[in-house]
Amino acid sequence: MTVRHFLTDLDLSPAELDQVLTLAATMKADPYAITPLAGPQTAAVFFDKTSTRTRFSFAAGISALGGAPLVVNPGESQLGHKETIADTARVLDRMVSLIIWRTYAQSGLEEMAAYSSVPVINALSDDYHPCQLLADLLTVREQLGATQGRSLAYLGDAANNMANSYLLAGVNAGMDVRIAGPEGYLPEQRIIDAAQERAAQTGGSVLITSDPAEALRGADVVATDTWISMGQEQEKEARLALFGDYRVDAAAMAQAAPGAVVLHCLPAYRGVEISAEVLDGPQSMVWDEAENRLHAQKALMAWLLVESGLADAETER
Ligand code: CP
Ligand code: NVA
Repeated sequence: MTVRHFLTDLDLSPAELDQVLTLAATMKADPYAITPLAGPQTAAVFFDKTSTRTRFSFAAGISALGGAPLVVNPGESQLGHKETIADTARVLDRMVSLIIWRTYAQSGLEEMAAYSSVPVINALSDDYHPCQLLADLLTVREQLGATQGRSLAYLGDAANNMANSYLLAGVNAGMDVRIAGPEGYLPEQRIIDAAQERAAQTGGSVLITSDPAEALRGADVVATDTWISMGQEQEKEARLALFGDYRVDAAAMAQAAPGAVVLHCLPAYRGVEISAEVLDGPQSMVWDEAENRLHAQKALMAWLLVESGLADAETER
């Protein structure tokens, strides 16, 4: 049996994404029924960047699955400085049942997965944040009933990990995804090509634009993210000047569908990428979205363990 990893949003087929999201809804309703990590088995959770939601949702989720999380902060292990990623993988997979890693380079995750016989999960890289998108899509299902055919506008830094993941996961779920950001801060062509190829399978669509109005027009979901991602702090002043036309505020929301759902992965900077009025307003689903990290990742972990032959199917139900 081939071990399954989750390094990018496209590592799940459209049908598999549906399975994981459906399982997440089941597990949200009955949180302690499925225990594929009973033992308890250990899951390693590495952070090379800081985190609140990802840290707590994985720690709580692993515990709820019957396992024991081992959270490793920057500088606490030999990973990446005293020992190669490959050697770390070769040691860890003899001791733990899952490897979850927030890091910078996507290539590091790929190397870890290449040498690991247990599932490796991307807990955010410079390129993607696929676990966040599982939570976002679960939230869209809850709010709009489905993802297929629904439109999602993402405004702001359209070259970051969240923009890439909205594009890929959105079309994987059959959504019409519109990404708006200034010239030079749009997704790379390889990401657009991959999204278009997947959209052709699901009936989703891709629009890349520098015109926020074009993206927002009648959108069912409006999403944004910080303009200054982790690792970009030294570019703060330049970035604050760049994205002003892409703020999600009342004027932007007036162009979206009435009652459109607002998403933000958090942490949010009120008055910068999103107004306080919108973030704290009735259309904002960001707290449900944050909670759904827990449910979606529990489902993902259970699903990956079963599909990799490392847990019994009945643990998945
Ligand atoms: N959304 C998200 O990943 O939050 P943290 O950085 O707090 O984990
Ligand atoms: N784009 C942000 C997401 C934080 C969850 C970052 O990488 O810092």
